[in-house]
Amino acid sequence: MSNIISINQKIISFRKKTIFVEGDKSLSIRFILLSALSNGKCTAYNLLKSEDVLCAINSIKKLGIKVNLNNNYCEVFGRGLFGFKYKNGLVLDAGNSGTTARLLCSLLIDTNQTVKITGDKSLKKRDMSRITRPLKMFGANLKDNKGKLPITIKKSKLLNPIVYTEHLGSAQCKSAVMIAALKTSGITKLKCSPSRNHTELMFKNALKVPIKIHKKNKYDLIELDGLREFNSFNYKIPGDISSAAFFIILTLLSKKKSLTIKNVNINPSRTGIIKILNMMGASIRFLNKKIYKGEINADIFVKSKENLKAINLDPKINSSAIDEFLLIFLAASQCSGISTFSNLSELNKKESRRLDWGIKILNMIGIKTKRIKNDGVRIWGNPNLNLNKEYIIKNYLKDHRIFMVSTIAALVFGGKWKIYDPISFRTSFPSFLKILKTLGAKIL
Ligand code: S3P
Repeated sequence: MSNIISINQKIISFRKKTIFVEGDKSLSIRFILLSALSNGKCTAYNLLKSEDVLCAINSIKKLGIKVNLNNNYCEVFGRGLFGFKYKNGLVLDAGNSGTTARLLCSLLIDTNQTVKITGDKSLKKRDMSRITRPLKMFGANLKDNKGKLPITIKKSKLLNPIVYTEHLGSAQCKSAVMIAALKTSGITKLKCSPSRNHTELMFKNALKVPIKIHKKNKYDLIELDGLREFNSFNYKIPGDISSAAFFIILTLLSKKKSLTIKNVNINPSRTGIIKILNMMGASIRFLNKKIYKGEINADIFVKSKENLKAINLDPKINSSAIDEFLLIFLAASQCSGISTFSNLSELNKKESRRLDWGIKILNMIGIKTKRIKNDGVRIWGNPNLNLNKEYIIKNYLKDHRIFMVSTIAALVFGGKWKIYDPISFRTSFPSFLKILKTLGAKIL
């Protein structure tokens, strides 16, 4: 594949189309890492086979875990809580995946050998102190590079359970503490700001380890009793709402279209984008809801909508839409009125500085967008936007979501676009371009 795509025309009209998106990335990575700690063969169906997940698989293989990956399923042969086998000086490469890097560190807090965790150019820029801080409190012997990767973990003395407050609303931090707690004798207590709760649901409904969760108004209290071995489990992974989101926006913002996306995970901690778009006046519906291992899955139905209205978003919703904000900004650009968002500092700590990129892309296409106080953004919507100039997108950190959002913007608004680094979408959504083409997108 060349390192650039061109889009020179809007997507043509499609109606009553049905698509599937690939398996959820968060659930896929959690399945791989947690099944490695189980006792026996775990099977996942519809596992996402993207680069982030392959990095997680390669890492557990290097830790002595057998994995069979084929088209229809993935088998992981867990060796129990303390079954990893590897040589001193092992290096694990998490690639572009923050979830893999952060959760691997906690998987290895009890290592007997020296092991190093590293990643690509983008991942090496991301903050790791958010996990090394609590992991050091457990007694882990780890050293980071000024709060960043690479992280080296060495044999530590005794590990002890901790009482910890997670205030960033980061599911990766919460999950890192929970996995470290599994490996530590005694009860770990965690108070955390709301974030996606897949780890809690997997612990409870798949691993069946003793976990208590008290939901309070502004935070959750989690108590976990460690050192309990667990049996193998199977998991059918639903579609990823963060991937579905690109097609939701494509359909909503372009004319005369309707689309059903089958069997997507609609865990309320992930559906912020739907709530926000419906607040703007969309009527996106969930059909055929089913519960599987504590997760809610459903088909998502969306149709084109004109006359969307601007919103002033309550930042309480932010964490449930954290990976979708660039798409939400595209929707805000089509609302009549001025939309305001705040408390978005976490967006600049992702694979690239996504808050800055969102502002840059909107201004580039002629939508007045300003950074405001409290890490916020103000967007002056223009429902009549119709582009005819040339636009070039080159994100030197090759952020997959910047590539995919730009592709959707080109197909919705028109103009002549050149977008660099198309292979980046393989990080999270390998069939992205293929699905777009089945809907009639002309991508050169
Ligand atoms: C993820 C959590 C989110 C999200 C990331 C995946 C996870 O990050 O942005 O893409 O699988 O736990 P934070 O937990 O850092 O907010």
